[in-house]
Amino acid sequence: MTRIFSGIKPTGHLTLGNYLGALRRWVGVDQHQSDALFSIVDLHALTVEHDPARVRRLSRQSATLMLAAGLDPQLCTVFVQSHVDEHARLSYLLECTATDGELRRMIQYKEKGTRARAAGQSVRLSLLTYPVLMAADILAYRTDEVPVGDDQTQHVELTRDLAVRFNQRYGHTFTVPRATHPPVAARVMNLQDPTSKMGKSDESGPGTVHLLDEADVVRKKIMRAVTDSGREVEYDRVTRPGIANLLEILAACEGGNPKDLAGVYESYGALKKDTAEAVVELLRPIRERHAELAADPGHIDSVLRKGAERAREMARPTVDAAYRAIGLLPA
Ligand code: TYM
Repeated sequence: MTRIFSGIKPTGHLTLGNYLGALRRWVGVDQHQSDALFSIVDLHALTVEHDPARVRRLSRQSATLMLAAGLDPQLCTVFVQSHVDEHARLSYLLECTATDGELRRMIQYKEKGTRARAAGQSVRLSLLTYPVLMAADILAYRTDEVPVGDDQTQHVELTRDLAVRFNQRYGHTFTVPRATHPPVAARVMNLQDPTSKMGKSDESGPGTVHLLDEADVVRKKIMRAVTDSGREVEYDRVTRPGIANLLEILAACEGGNPKDLAGVYESYGALKKDTAEAVVELLRPIRERHAELAADPGHIDSVLRKGAERAREMARPTVDAAYRAIGLLPA
């Protein structure tokens, strides 16, 4: 059976981008057809300035939302990364496999590092090594497929390189994984700046739809989305990025094709209105279920505890094998 691993970093409230790019497929397809693990990758939330209480809060909220969106602990393993030591254990071995040059080339490191420096903050070393920890997350489970949005492609490519290099040097230890992306909405763009990604860290920004936004807030954000100066509804990501983004969101909600949908609309206003309603309806059941689940944190904790036990059992043999292969004496 195909092994799937993917994760969400608790650095902000989950967004429509996280849902359409990743979570929706985990719920709809992956957990039913594969042996799947989904993790709240909390160690990754420590790579930038953070508030400990907020990370704790967001970790629980992310777990609650993952279940509210439909992940079923009977079908898949849901757990918190820091509860399973194997991730950090393996990460060190992969740091001894990766090179400084290859990590400095990572786009997210360059972007986030530049932003931190511009804000007068220091850049944590973990921001540089973060993709290695991500590789450990994936390789510890002998993962075949990693369902992610577009922005994670480069990290999964690095993971593949590290797996191949380790296997060649020390003997076959890891499965070489591949990234999979949704057919539409693999990169949902910011509604106020359709040339940049809709990201979690853009707190309460008008360009980001959060899964827990009230219906009226969602409507407002979509109705105020920045569009292009033209009038015709055309699907062209380069010349009409704002409209293309709305068409992709609508197509993802309704299961259609953005190009075909473009032909249906004669005005930007009508497209925005339908997109807003489609997103409101998409998010309504998740918000309702989230409210029910949030009322019982004991249940969430118990799901996460059992998930971590299962994950630990799956990861340990592979990580132990990597320790032996690289030349460390068995304990
Ligand atoms: P994160 O937490 O930023 O995002 C979680 C998932 O959501 C996708 N995503 C998007 N998809 C489409 N449009 C967007 N605007 C958008 N924003 C986010 C991401 O591609 C991702 O699939 N490094 C990862 C977390 C991670 C991970 C892993 C993922 C750590 N270890 C191992 C897979 C496997 C991250 O920061 O995702």
